[in-house]
Order: sequence, then structure tokens, then C-alpha cells
Amino acid sequence: MKFTKRTALRGEITVPGDKSISHRTILLGSLAEGMTEVHGFLQGADCLSSIACFQAMGVTIEREGDTVRIHGKGLHGLQAPTQPLDAGNSGTTTRLMAGILAAQPFTSTVTGDASIQKRPMKRIIIPLTQMGANIVSIRGNDCAPLRIQGMPLTGIHYQSPVASAQVKSAILLAGLYADGETSVTEPYLSRNHTELMFRAFGIPIHCEGTTATVHPTEHLTAQQIIVPGDISSAAYFIVAALITPNSCITIRNVGINPTRDGILEVCRAMGADLTVEPLRREQSEPVADITVRTSALKGTVIEGSLIPKLIDELPIIAVLACFASGTTIIRDAQELKVKESNRIDVMTRHLTAMGADVEATDDGMIIHGGKPLHGAVIDSHLDHRIAMSFAIAGMNADGETEITGAECVTISYPDFYQDLKRL
Ligand code: S3P
Repeated sequence: MKFTKRTALRGEITVPGDKSISHRTILLGSLAEGMTEVHGFLQGADCLSSIACFQAMGVTIEREGDTVRIHGKGLHGLQAPTQPLDAGNSGTTTRLMAGILAAQPFTSTVTGDASIQKRPMKRIIIPLTQMGANIVSIRGNDCAPLRIQGMPLTGIHYQSPVASAQVKSAILLAGLYADGETSVTEPYLSRNHTELMFRAFGIPIHCEGTTATVHPTEHLTAQQIIVPGDISSAAYFIVAALITPNSCITIRNVGINPTRDGILEVCRAMGADLTVEPLRREQSEPVADITVRTSALKGTVIEGSLIPKLIDELPIIAVLACFASGTTIIRDAQELKVKESNRIDVMTRHLTAMGADVEATDDGMIIHGGKPLHGAVIDSHLDHRIAMSFAIAGMNADGETEITGAECVTISYPDFYQDLKRL
């Protein structure tokens, strides 16, 4: 797909449903008793992988556009899958589902695409094994495919070395089946959608600081859930409006959960003209309309507890930093290396190819902004966030930018290019 310079992006847009929340509706809806109805479900390939995996365990899940109905089987109603469970490209499906599979009275195998088979799973194997699970990386490399033999589980208190909602959620889901309480403490608070949705489904959960504690329960009550727009998808339009001359975009109905809104904090620190108008709450998740105008930006430092609040936005933030005056430093973000691609390496190499002044560090990037970008051929590495980030960069570069593997946006935002074109 090819991109050339644009000006004056204008109009309104509603981005698709939040990916993290959509996944969790399938997991908890499957374990609940009764029918959970979800509106605004993300129809991206990752969330469809979660649906397929639970269908393979006997759960009836119907989908009509972005409405999904999950006929829950109860905590003890899943059936042994007859084939390996295929999580596709989805780390969230793989890791969260492993927490549930660890406690089932059957053995299952979880696998996924080439990218998933390279992503680290030791981070969930260690705590789930401490709880009593029997999980084996079939190739012995601590990656998928994983063979998971369900076992009776014991509650643990786990001090996680990483701020990862996927690790935290895998443990909390396993904790639903443990004898006694299970808690997870993380170095910084990661997204808390699991905790909020546990509460909605009637699961006893207590959160204090960076510790979440769950108590086993017998019943989950089916819910009606409205999924807000994904701030991680909104981020591309926020940055597009900020850096494309003479632009003004309103993004409607965006989830602004405080564990996810780091992009807004960074934009404000850089001097962005950005208005956030809070709307009613969609159940426990806060929602807002966001209006963004072209702005003169300055560099900033992004580190520490802010990192988990914008981890998926760092590729597009790196693009943003190229258009700010001065230096932007991103540190404490080594997790970027183990996402769908090594995002420190891929962003640094490709932004450099476009003429930017970017240096990779062990835990982030240093970006000296203000150098004009020019077109280049960009390999997405089949990473949806890389493809979308370079579409926005390409629209603000001289000459032509070609993105190969551009179709990978179907993972989280199937209509991304159409929506961009419309603006
Ligand atoms: C997610 C958590 C994050 C994020 C991913 C979705 C989730 O991963 O990068 O896209 O839904 O829990 P980590 O928690 O492993 O950093």
C-alpha cells in the first residue's frame, strides 16, 4: 500500500471496540452462566481467535456485526478441544486462556502463528506452575505451542517481574479455580480491564496499589457489555491530526481508562491542542470524545509508571516525536522487544530509513525531532501497529512511502485505511 503527503485531515470518526476488553468478554462470558451480550465488540482477527478457541471448547458464540452473544457454560462446563487451540497472532488469547486451561479437567495444546511461536511464555509458565499447573513448551524454547494439563490449583501471592496485564490476568483467571486467595503485585500498574470485568461478573476481587487479589467463586453472572472505542486505535488519528498541517479530527466514544490514557498525557506534555470531553461511563469503563488540532510540539521524556499506560502506542508516539522540536526520550520500555515484532528495532530502522534521527537504546529510543521525513519502503513485519504507524508517517513525508504486508491491520482495525481515507 502506498502513501503520499496529505494536509487538512478533517471530520469525525468512531474507532472500533477496545481489543483488550473484547477479548475479556469472550473469556468471562464463556465461564458465566447464562447469555452475555456484547455490543461494540472488535471484529479484528485477534478477538476472532478468542471466539474460535472457546467455540472449540463447546461454547456457543454468535456474532452479528459487532454484537456478540456468548452462551456461557459456567466455570466447570468447558469441553476438551479435539484439536490444538489456535490463538493466531494474539498474545492476549494465548496467555489469558492459558490461565483458564491450567485448571480444566483435560489436557489441551495452545499454538498460534509464526509471531506467537516466538513470544515469551515463561512469564506465565512460572506463576501458573507455582499454582500447580502442568505446562510444557513443546519445543522446549519457552514459547508456544504449549501443552497444558489442567490440575487442581493452589492460590499464590505472585510478585511479577514485569508490568504486564497478560501475566496478571492469566494468574487471576487461574485464581478463579484455586483453593484460597490469589494475588499479583506488579512493578507498575498495567491495564485493569480484567479486574473491572471480574467485578462486573460478580467475582470477588480487591485492588490496592499495584496488587490485585481474587477469591475463588462458584458462579459468574452473565452480563450486558458495551465495549468503548479502543484508545490504542484512536492514537493513530490523534497523532495524524497533530502532525498533519491544518487538521482537526474528533474521535468519538473512546475508552479513557486511566490505566490506558498515557498517550493523552504525553500529547499534553508535548504541547498538543487536545480536548477530552468525558461522556457517560460505559459501565465501569470511562469514555470520552477527543478533539485534536494540528499543533506545534516539543520533545518529552516517557518513562516509569507511564510506560504500561501507553505500551501499544509507543510506535506511533515515536512517529509523533519525529515531528516535535527537541529530543524525546523513551526509556523503561524493554517490553517493546517482545511484542508482535521487536518494536524498538523495527521503528528505529524504518524511521531512520525515512530520514529521522532516531537511536535505539536497550529499553527504548532517543528521537531528535524536526528532521523532515522522506518516503521509503517499509516492511510491516506483519505487525499491525507498525503498519498503522508508518501509514501516518508516510502521509507526512516527502515522496512516496510503500508499506508491505499492510493488510495486517486486520488484527486490530480491519477498516483502518478506509477510515483514514475518509478523513
Ligand atoms: C494486553 C496487554 C498488553 C498489550 C496487549 C494487550 C491485554 O500486553 O501490549 O496489546 O489485553 O492484556 P502486556 O500486558 O503483556 O504488556
